[in-house]
Amino acid sequence: MNRFLQLFQNIPLKWRLTFSSSFLMFLTFILFSIAQYEILYNWLLDQEREAVIKTRDEVAAYYQQVNRPNQDIHIRDLENVLLKLNDKHQVIRILDRNHNIVISVSNEFQQQLAPADYPTIEGIEQFRYKGDDYLVTWEHVNTRSFQGTVEVVRNLTSFQDLIHIILLITIGFASATILISIVSGIIISRQYINPIKELNEDIMKIKEEGFQTRVKESKHEDEFKELTKIFNEMLERVEDTLQGQKQFVEDASHELRTPIAVIDGHLSLLNRWGKHDPEVLEESLEVCKTEINRLQKLIVELLDLTRSEAVIEEIDIKPIEITEVIEQLTKSFSVLHPEFEITCHTEVFGHQQVQISKHHLEQILLILLDNAVKYSLEDQRINVKVLKEENSIVLEVKDYGIGISHLEKEKIFHRFYRVDKARSRDMGGTGLGLAIAKRLVKKYKGTISVSNKEEVGSSFIVKFPII
Ligand SMILES: Nc1ncnc2c1ncn2[C@@H]1O[C@H](COP(=O)(O)OP(=O)(O)O)[C@@H](O)[C@H]1O
Ligand SMILES: [Mg+2]
Repeated sequence: MNRFLQLFQNIPLKWRLTFSSSFLMFLTFILFSIAQYEILYNWLLDQEREAVIKTRDEVAAYYQQVNRPNQDIHIRDLENVLLKLNDKHQVIRILDRNHNIVISVSNEFQQQLAPADYPTIEGIEQFRYKGDDYLVTWEHVNTRSFQGTVEVVRNLTSFQDLIHIILLITIGFASATILISIVSGIIISRQYINPIKELNEDIMKIKEEGFQTRVKESKHEDEFKELTKIFNEMLERVEDTLQGQKQFVEDASHELRTPIAVIDGHLSLLNRWGKHDPEVLEESLEVCKTEINRLQKLIVELLDLTRSEAVIEEIDIKPIEITEVIEQLTKSFSVLHPEFEITCHTEVFGHQQVQISKHHLEQILLILLDNAVKYSLEDQRINVKVLKEENSIVLEVKDYGIGISHLEKEKIFHRFYRVDKARSRDMGGTGLGLAIAKRLVKKYKGTISVSNKEEVGSSFIVKFPII
């Protein structure tokens, strides 16, 4: 049995579905047919028995009633009555005490049966004689002038003919069911298998042609449609990720190439003739130093960006008192930029806690403060605010600098995106700060955006869910 199951599991799904569905259909029909045949057979046989008993009882009752000493009935009349009481394929006989036939009437009953040819017990009995089946019933008649038996024998040929026809019809239907169930099994399994086959082919195509290929979506509103939809969405994300990585490598190498090209240019210059000119030497060394600093910063920020995508360690995200951290950092930052008027206003009372690593929170605030300083003009004010909204703590960093146009509000969070490349470069920017901040904020299920309401300068708003 186990081996059979194993074999069955190894055949193609299409045939497994066909076999199992047709086998189940066939089994159901066969069981139903057997039950139907049994019930019909017993019911028809009961009908035959009842008919025989009924005739016997009627004859016996009649005989009992008429065969009294004062009523001298002619044998002919009795025969006529018995003929009327008789059914088709049936013989009625009256036997005397010595088993001699007194009267015998028959209706389409060919067989000449002698009483010794069948059982002689009271009640009803089925017996076989020369290839035919019969029902026989006896009843004793006891009147003052006559003692004997009434006997009814019924030939079951027509009953058996009927049963044979029923059996033939059942077998015919069963054979038709086998055929229908196999054909429908094939059709049903094909319906289920075809989408899988198509999906298989599409996946092979993706393997050969790459992630830009999509699988065909199922036309029907069923599970396959859902599956192909999810599969395509997944492909889209994989493609996006791959595209993003490719873009990132291109952008990063481009960013790295610029300072290296500048250094290379200056070194060639020095190599050719500049090293003997103290002024050129001085200037070139200065430029090289700046570019090397830029490279260092870029590498540090690239590492920060990669780290910001790494999974955070559980131990790192202890709840911290957000206002305290922000106030302290703002204070240290203003020491570094004495020309700026940096205020810190916290509207959060009590010990409001946010689940975030302290280092990450400081990193985010530093990126925003650094930008505020870099993109300010004459109005050198920066306001830091911490407020509480319904379910979140809001950190706001506002400056009165060059501002951000509506079109750029989303883009500035992309890696290496800078509104004014030259200005950012002059200020030592890499275009990675906000991308790092966004990733960090997202990690703690927070949001970061630029306010739309500003007329002067820009205002960055970071929201963290309260635990
Ligand atoms: N406070 C700000 N005011 C005006 N523009 C800003 C501000 N902060 C960021 N930006 C714009 O967003 C860009 C991306 O910022 P960021 O990712 O920090 O890169 P970087 O500062 O290194 O250029 C900046 O180049 C600048 O154009
Ligand atoms: Mg920046």
